[in-house]
Amino acid sequence: MMMIGGLRKHTLRNPTLIIALVCVVCFVMFITAYVFTPTIRRRSSDKCNFFTSEGCRVRDLFPNAYFSRELTDQEIESRVVVKDLLNFVPLQTKTPKVAFLFMTPGSLPFEKLWHMFFQGHEGRFSIYVHASKEKPVHVSKYFVGREIHSEPVSWGSFAMIEAERRLLANALLDPDNQHFVLLSESCIPIRHFEFVYNYLLFTNVSFLECYFDTGPHGNGRYIEYMLPEVEQKDFRKGSQWFTMKRQHAIIVIADSLYFTKFKYHCRPNMEGGRNCYSDEHYLPTFFNMLDPGGISNWSVTYVDWSEGKWHPKSFGAQDITFQLLKTLTSANQSPHITSDSKRTVLITPCMWNGSKRPCYLFARKFYPDALDKLMFLFTNTTAF
Ligand SMILES: *[C@@H]1O[C@H](CO)[C@@H](O)[C@H](O)[C@H]1NC(C)=O
Ligand SMILES: *[C@@H]1O[C@H](CO)[C@@H](O)[C@H](O)[C@H]1NC(C)=O
Ligand SMILES: *[C@@H]1O[C@H](CO)[C@@H](O)[C@H](O)[C@H]1NC(C)=O
Ligand SMILES: *[C@@H]1O[C@H](CO)[C@@H](O)[C@H](O)[C@H]1NC(C)=O
Repeated sequence: MMMIGGLRKHTLRNPTLIIALVCVVCFVMFITAYVFTPTIRRRSSDKCNFFTSEGCRVRDLFPNAYFSRELTDQEIESRVVVKDLLNFVPLQTKTPKVAFLFMTPGSLPFEKLWHMFFQGHEGRFSIYVHASKEKPVHVSKYFVGREIHSEPVSWGSFAMIEAERRLLANALLDPDNQHFVLLSESCIPIRHFEFVYNYLLFTNVSFLECYFDTGPHGNGRYIEYMLPEVEQKDFRKGSQWFTMKRQHAIIVIADSLYFTKFKYHCRPNMEGGRNCYSDEHYLPTFFNMLDPGGISNWSVTYVDWSEGKWHPKSFGAQDITFQLLKTLTSANQSPHITSDSKRTVLITPCMWNGSKRPCYLFARKFYPDALDKLMFLFTNTTAF
């Protein structure tokens, strides 16, 4: 106090000192802002009322602030678990299996085709069915009694993610299941079992599509309520139809931080008419943040979005030809289309263990009337 009083007396007479004092004050304000900013961000959930009476949203405090930051307590907890699980070599069992997880409203229209696919490979696969609407009628012994407890799932809803977790958790109960494939009732296999089994088990990645879409149906679905843990630069898009190695399946089950963020901030029909679909954003964003090198970035389930409509092209009986299957099985790069007006096509080369390989093992979407032609082609070994 004495010193400030003394300074003031001098400054009244000396303009050089006024300038010096202004500089000192600016410097102190700058240092204060710099030192305390991370603290405010870190404690945004409980202490942010200190600077604003409006609430605890980081975006109110720092509308354009996406600079590097300190991690929240929950983020540190989450990252330490993921890091350890990634370093941990999963138990190798004598009879590794691929788990096929079917998400369907009811009966599976391509069950007969899947039966042909599985036949002769007993002991190397397991099947789980999440039937969200009605109890399926089975035509294949492989599917009988394979339903798990299910809940209703409507298109695009967050219940979809909960159903995926339910399927993963049930399949994880069997330690032989080393790789997990999520499929819908309109998916078909486009390779023989042996090929699929080797492709999935002798790799060290999960096949999950992940790309950066700057358009309205990509990053346009992001909202700052996801801060501080999910920043817009980390938000990604990708198809729901993944395959996942065991380690990643466990990491997904262990996650509650990002799961909760998406559950509350990425759903259809949110406030202001905003739509977000967690099935297209949660896992791509999650793995992009926590293990980007552990995912392929493309999906092994083929889909045709080239028509630019709300739903992808569906193939009916008239579309099924030897040539169509050849086209699907020979592709070795995978396109991702952005949703902005330019509709840029991003290309991922399909690299498997360091070399370019065919991208697709499965395909969607198929109408039930395609079954007979597909079964006929399946017996022609040169088609699959
Ligand atoms: C992957 O590539 C390495 C190096 O080229 C090779 O030694 C290994 O056998 C390959 N793995 C499989 C499953 O093909
Ligand atoms: C997938 O993309 C991420 C981010 O662009 C990259 O770091 C990663 O290496 C890619 N994965 C593979 C298997 O190439
Ligand atoms: C997977 O294997 C490839 C080739 O063998 C290697 O370059 C890559 O680092 C491995 N990735 C992980 C996540 O272990
Ligand atoms: C498979 O289909 C192709 C194209 O229709 C045909 O040329 C070939 O003879 C078929 N092979 C068998 C074993 O049926």
